[in-house]
Amino acid sequence: MAEVEVILPHERYKILIEPGVLENLGARVRECAPAEKCALFTDSTVGRHYGALAKKSLQASAYQVEYLEFAGGEQSKSLESVRVFYDALLDAKLERTSPVIALGGGVVGDTAGFAAATYLRGVPLIQCPTSLLAMVDASVGGKVGVNVPQGKNLIGSFHQPKLVLLDPRVLRTLDLRELRCGFAECVKHGILGDSALFEWTESSVDALLALEEPAIIELLSRNTAFKARIVAADEKEKGMRALLNLGHTFGHAIEKTSAYAIPHGEAVSLGIAAAAYVSVESGRAEKEVLTRSLKLLERFGLPVTAALAPGAELFHAMKLDKKIRSGTIRLVLPLGIGRAEIADDIPDPLILEAFESIRS
Ligand SMILES: NC(=O)c1ccc[n+]([C@@H]2O[C@H](COP(=O)([O-])OP(=O)(O)OC[C@H]3O[C@@H](n4cnc5c(N)ncnc54)[C@H](O)[C@@H]3O)[C@@H](O)[C@H]2O)c1
Ligand SMILES: [Zn+2]
Repeated sequence: MAEVEVILPHERYKILIEPGVLENLGARVRECAPAEKCALFTDSTVGRHYGALAKKSLQASAYQVEYLEFAGGEQSKSLESVRVFYDALLDAKLERTSPVIALGGGVVGDTAGFAAATYLRGVPLIQCPTSLLAMVDASVGGKVGVNVPQGKNLIGSFHQPKLVLLDPRVLRTLDLRELRCGFAECVKHGILGDSALFEWTESSVDALLALEEPAIIELLSRNTAFKARIVAADEKEKGMRALLNLGHTFGHAIEKTSAYAIPHGEAVSLGIAAAAYVSVESGRAEKEVLTRSLKLLERFGLPVTAALAPGAELFHAMKLDKKIRSGTIRLVLPLGIGRAEIADDIPDPLILEAFESIRS
């Protein structure tokens, strides 16, 4: 078992990494959120695998469980789903102290998390991430929210969980393509701020792809600890937390113009390749940053080139995204392995060239 602590100015919580911990879900939840009732949210895929087990464990710890399942997928991360959750919570008369348990990938965590942040002005949230991406990224740091037709994650809040429970064994049922998407975020962490993590990841690819338990536990603890450090330094993304967007400004444009046919983690992989290209071409980083990053992404089976939309369309999507969020195009650019900075002065032609560099 491994344990990581997230320490924030006004609260702190634990991330517990333990094979089989899902069987003890009830006992773990009771330690940090005792109540008569609780709500367990999941999607239909995760529900099919682990819903009954989680519910049984909560009932064994004397919770009355309101079990809620939605279809899942990015389209489910909506205000309509939240509305359905509210109704169910109100009908079941859940109280201020009743915990909401989010069992699933980032879609479940973000949607259930947003419902928990707003129901009765906030109830305790327990994150039980089941995808690798949600384990190393989405479940840590308190960002919750939903999509609207105008864009992804535009409605949301900060609501820190009381506890994050990671059961490495559930990764055995995750699709390989989804697993790879999680590795993309781990590679991102190494490049933007932790060269030792990057090197360890380089030396552990085979064990990780084989889901060897010690390697996976180490991956989870190193990456959650890394994210916890960044969140602790900048809870509300006023400074260095923005570095976590490495590969994401390019990536969001790629996701959007592919009509989400390219999944998030793959778009991030492509985005990291594009950002590293800009770094090298603008004289910020040695070529080695680009070659080592590409090599590691490829060893995980992640794409570093793809059939993309026309350059003008990609650029337009990037501008539109930024217009809603911050006005100017701000790119996170690696300076070396383990160091990155934010730049807002990259000329448009170089951005277009970077997109071309990842076109297959
Ligand atoms: N809040 C944050 O800080 C943050 C950070 C990164 C990403 N996100 C969000 O997370 C979402 C992406 O998360 P995701 O990649 O986990 O997507 P997801 O929740 O859609 O999960 C991917 C797929 O894997 C399935 N799945 C999950 N765990 C499984 C398991 N153990 N076994 C079998 N199938 C399993 C799901 O049912 C789903 O079909 C996006 O909406 C993104 O915006 C949020
Ligand atoms: Zn991401």
